Amino acid sequence: MKLKIALFLSGSGSNARNICSYFKNHKQIEVAIILSNKENSGAKHVSAEFDIPYFIFTRAEFYDTSIVAEELKKNKIDTLVLAGFLWLIPAYLLAQFPNQIINIHPALLPKYGGKGMHGKYVHEAVFSNNEKESGITIHLCNKEYDKGEILYQAKVSLTKEDNPESIAAKVLQLEHQHFPLVIEKYLLDK
Ligand code: GAR
Repeated sequence: MKLKIALFLSGSGSNARNICSYFKNHKQIEVAIILSNKENSGAKHVSAEFDIPYFIFTRAEFYDTSIVAEELKKNKIDTLVLAGFLWLIPAYLLAQFPNQIINIHPALLPKYGGKGMHGKYVHEAVFSNNEKESGITIHLCNKEYDKGEILYQAKVSLTKEDNPESIAAKVLQLEHQHFPLVIEKYLLDK
């Protein structure tokens, strides 16, 4: 039986699309469900494009009920992958998936992490601080934002010509290049 991933997202879903595409004909791993907290995220489109079930939930359902946990159980999920998912993972999911929740962050943690540091806010901060490089961090989740064990980092150089938008584009390119490979390696090495 294949290892089953549940993809969580809140944003446009370019990483989710890239991950679904990478694992589409994979022999050992499949994306079994896509979940989102946002009606207008890319989740619905990616789900339709790859014919993968889609599940949406509210904040109250996520934090105060077990419907997400049950949906993951029902689909026999092994690993959660957060591809631009912005809510803190509750304790019940950390307990249900020990060392099996993987997040991507668009900066070189421990710099530029923590609550409120996501998406464009990260790139604006990197730009304001005249950083010479930025990058990606793929890490396991724990009960704090962006603090879990780091699995992988990749860097990109920044120049005087860069602005927050061009930094975002450089970092997103790294995300697309590395995230599926790091997920694959982590799942198959276990
Ligand atoms: C990605 O850059 C991801 O690293 C970031 O959200 C973006 C989602 O893009 N995640 C965070 O900031 C988490 N703290 P996408 O919707 O195009 O995949």
